[in-house]
Amino acid sequence: MHTSLQCNLRIKMKVYFDNAATTPISPEVIQAMLPYLENFHGNPSSIHAAGRKVRAAIEQSRKTVANCLNASIGEIFFTSGGTESSNMALRGAVRDFGVQRFISSPIEHPCVLKPLEQLCKEFDLPLDLVAVDHLGRPDFEDLERLLAMDKGKTLVSLMHANNELGTMLDLDRFAGICQQYGAFCHSDTVQTIGHFPIDVSQTKLNFLTGSAHKFHGPKGVGFIYINMDTPIKPLLEGGAQERNMRSGTENVYGIVGLAQALKMAVGEMDDRREHIEQLKAYMKNALLDNFEDIQFNGDQNGPALYTVLSVSFPKSVKSEMLVMNLDIAGICASGGSACSSGAETQSHVMQAIKADPDRKTIRFSFSHYNTKAEVDFVIGKLEAMVDRKNYVP
Ligand SMILES: Cc1ncc(COP(=O)(O)O)c(C=O)c1O
Repeated sequence: MHTSLQCNLRIKMKVYFDNAATTPISPEVIQAMLPYLENFHGNPSSIHAAGRKVRAAIEQSRKTVANCLNASIGEIFFTSGGTESSNMALRGAVRDFGVQRFISSPIEHPCVLKPLEQLCKEFDLPLDLVAVDHLGRPDFEDLERLLAMDKGKTLVSLMHANNELGTMLDLDRFAGICQQYGAFCHSDTVQTIGHFPIDVSQTKLNFLTGSAHKFHGPKGVGFIYINMDTPIKPLLEGGAQERNMRSGTENVYGIVGLAQALKMAVGEMDDRREHIEQLKAYMKNALLDNFEDIQFNGDQNGPALYTVLSVSFPKSVKSEMLVMNLDIAGICASGGSACSSGAETQSHVMQAIKADPDRKTIRFSFSHYNTKAEVDFVIGKLEAMVDRKNYVP
C-alpha cells in the first residue's frame, strides 16, 4: 500500500488544458460505441438483419441530435466533422441557391475562410469581411451596411464562438439581420454545440455545423444542420447514404458516439458549465495574483466561451518559448501563433484584432474533467517560465 502510494506520487502530473483543440472521449461514449466495433458490423445500406440493426442505430442517433437542437430529423446529416460540414454549406449555397456574394469575418476558422477564398476565385464572386473590434466582436452595423449594398444573393457566414479568443456572437441577432435583408446564413457552431443551448426552431439559420470531438465524442465525425426550407445538393456523390446527402458508408460507431456525447453534453450542460466557470475564474485570479502584467484576450465581460481563457503575457526572455516549456512541464495548451518556415507569426485571429505582436498569447481551454489541483500545478510551473509579481531576484 505504502509502496504503491509512493509510486503514484512519483508519476509526473500531466495536465490537458487544450480542450478547444479537442476533448478527451468520455468513457460512456466509448461504451456506447463498443458494440458497433465488436459485434454489429453490418453495412447500414444492407437490407438484411445485420444491416437493419446498424441502420436503426444511425437513425436513433439522428433523432438524438435533432432533439438536442430542436430540429427536424430530416434536417440533420452526419459528416466527417466541422470542416466538411462548412465546405458543404458554402459550396452548396453557390451551386444550389445561386449565391453571388459572401460576407464573413477575418477571424473565422480556416475551414470557412479557405473554402470561401476558393469559391470566390472559382466563381469570380466578391467576399466582404465584416469589421471586428479588438475583442473579436463582429460589428453588426458594418454587417448591415454591407447587406444594404445590392450585390445580389448573399450568404453570410459568422462563427458562433471564436476558437482562439472565446468571444461569442449573438446568434439570434445575426440570424434576424440576415432574415431582414433576405440573406442566407451559416454559422460555424463547432465550439458551442454541446456547451450552449441552441434551438434552431427559434434561431433561424440556414446552416450550422457540429463536430463530435469538441464535446467528448470521437474524432472524424460531425454533422450539418440544413434548414428544410433551403435544401442543398450533396458535396460527395456516389452512394445514396444520408438520404442522398452524403455518399459513402457511414461511420457507424462514430455517429453512435457523437449522439451519446451530445446527449450527455446537453443533459449535463449546467453542471459542467458551473464547474468549468469556477475553474476559469480561479485560474484568472491566480494568474493576476501571481504574475506581472497579465492581460486576457477576447471579451471578458460579454458573451464568451466559458471553456476558453486566452492569456496575454508580457514579452520577456523567459516567456519566449512558453508553449514548448509548458509541454516539457507536462502541460498541453495552445499558442496564438502559427509557425511558418521556422518563424513564429501571429495567427490570423490575433492579427485581425490587432493584438500586440510583442506579447505572448497562450490559450488554456478547459473541460469538466479538469480540476483546481491542475490549475495550481500549472500556476506553479508557470513561475519558472514568466515573470512573477513583485519578484526581487
Ligand atoms: C471553430 C472551429 N470550426 C471548425 C473546426 C474544424 O472541425 P473539425 O476538426 O471537425 O473538422 C474547428 C476545430 O478545430 C473549430 O475550432
